[in-house]
Amino acid sequence: MSEGAAKKERPRSFQAIRGVRDLLPDQTSLWNFVERIAHETFATFGFGEIRLPLFERTDLFARSIGEDTDVVSKEMYTFLDPPAWLEILEKLGTVKDVDRTATTFTIKNHLPNENFIAEVLSLRPEATASACRAYIEHNMQQLPQPVKLYYMGPMFRRERPQKGRYRQFYQIGAEVLGGSDAPAIDAEVIEMVMTFFDRLGLEGVQLHINSIGDKNCRPKYVELLREELQKVKDKLGPDSRRRIDTNPLRVLDSKLESEQETIEKLPRITQHLCDSCRDNYDEVKRQLAIRGINYSQNFRLVRGLDYYMRTTFEITAKGLGSQNAVCGGGRYDGLLELLGGPPTKGIGFAIGEDRLILSLQESGKAPAQQGRDVYIAWMGERAQATAIRAAKDLRKAGFSVELPPVEQKFGKALGQADKLGAKYALILGDNEVSEGLWTLKMLADGSQAKFTEPDLLEHLRKQKALSS
Ligand code: HAM
Repeated sequence: MSEGAAKKERPRSFQAIRGVRDLLPDQTSLWNFVERIAHETFATFGFGEIRLPLFERTDLFARSIGEDTDVVSKEMYTFLDPPAWLEILEKLGTVKDVDRTATTFTIKNHLPNENFIAEVLSLRPEATASACRAYIEHNMQQLPQPVKLYYMGPMFRRERPQKGRYRQFYQIGAEVLGGSDAPAIDAEVIEMVMTFFDRLGLEGVQLHINSIGDKNCRPKYVELLREELQKVKDKLGPDSRRRIDTNPLRVLDSKLESEQETIEKLPRITQHLCDSCRDNYDEVKRQLAIRGINYSQNFRLVRGLDYYMRTTFEITAKGLGSQNAVCGGGRYDGLLELLGGPPTKGIGFAIGEDRLILSLQESGKAPAQQGRDVYIAWMGERAQATAIRAAKDLRKAGFSVELPPVEQKFGKALGQADKLGAKYALILGDNEVSEGLWTLKMLADGSQAKFTEPDLLEHLRKQKALSS
């Protein structure tokens, strides 16, 4: 190939990875709005923000979420630190039977001259485990209890992408750690999410609740469920059949059309709760009623993570199709002990922010995108210096200003100002600069007026106050 032909060939471009998206400025204004309302609402309930790492040791997730869950067994992005997959694969051919609970891999005698020791890390698939780890690590049990934390940010699960389901998705979550397990706490946590959704104007919000018992009553129910499932095994699909042994509760979660009739007839956990779990569940419902929160009870709401006990809940909203759970949560007393901490109560939730945004967009709730306030159309060297100063002063006063880097003919500048949705064009030519009178053009109706520099700022301030 000649040099000329080689030059013309453009290198292959890149695309974001499947299930991973860019959020562009016309979308992020709604994201920022939602996050601002979350900060404000959660603060009124006494929650403080915690920023957690994006990756942790894999066994933190395996131990909390459960090794047999889909999230841990299939969906985590796991890597070694130092990242030496390639060298290892080269030496070993393939890596088989990866032990997800291992904290390190020691690969002996395969690398020249040394053993290879690496930590097994994963991108976080959720943040409850990290919040609990942080509570223990920072001795938060010494703070006034309970400790109320919230977080927002990306999570990673290798699921099959579809509408409302991504491999990098965002959660806004909260956890109440320590203190008592009074049912009023469960109800207040739910009240906080509902208040947040209400402030956003989210439509079609439905709260579903359940109690999945505790370590006294759940094992007996699970056994009973397993026995009943064995009897109807033939009517179940391969996934559910497999779960009879591994995790029979998850059969209740199945969305498979052909299994629905069978599942409806299975024994329900709420009829097999021990006395204290039943009393607890009744009190949670009473506390919700006092707060004027409507709910429906759903005996099939078992959730996909192992750490839950007693209260579980999910919230669905309008316009989301099959992935309609916009929030999931529940109580997880015992999880902190499992992670090496002191006996500590815990309850929390996580909202799927992507889904929340989708639902708001579907019901037309997107706030109008903010255009520029002022486009400065300048011509001439002297005018540029004045334009730079004007831009500085206007920005200081809080206006959004577009200052073209090179001189433009006024016609072109006004066209550009229009395209950017600017409200005003500030026209600065030699005349304006020498007279000290600046021309301000209202782009909506084409009217214009001349102002001295201080008057102009005052005028714009007044107009802004009027329109807000
Ligand atoms: P989760 O039910 O696994 O719970 O996730 C909570 C929410 O995150 C879901 O209801 C959904 O809106 C959203 N979500 C989950 N996976 C995806 C995905 N692949 N794409 C888009 N959105 C998704 C938890 O994560 C628990 N940590 C919640 C919790 C906090 N429980 C107690 N404290």
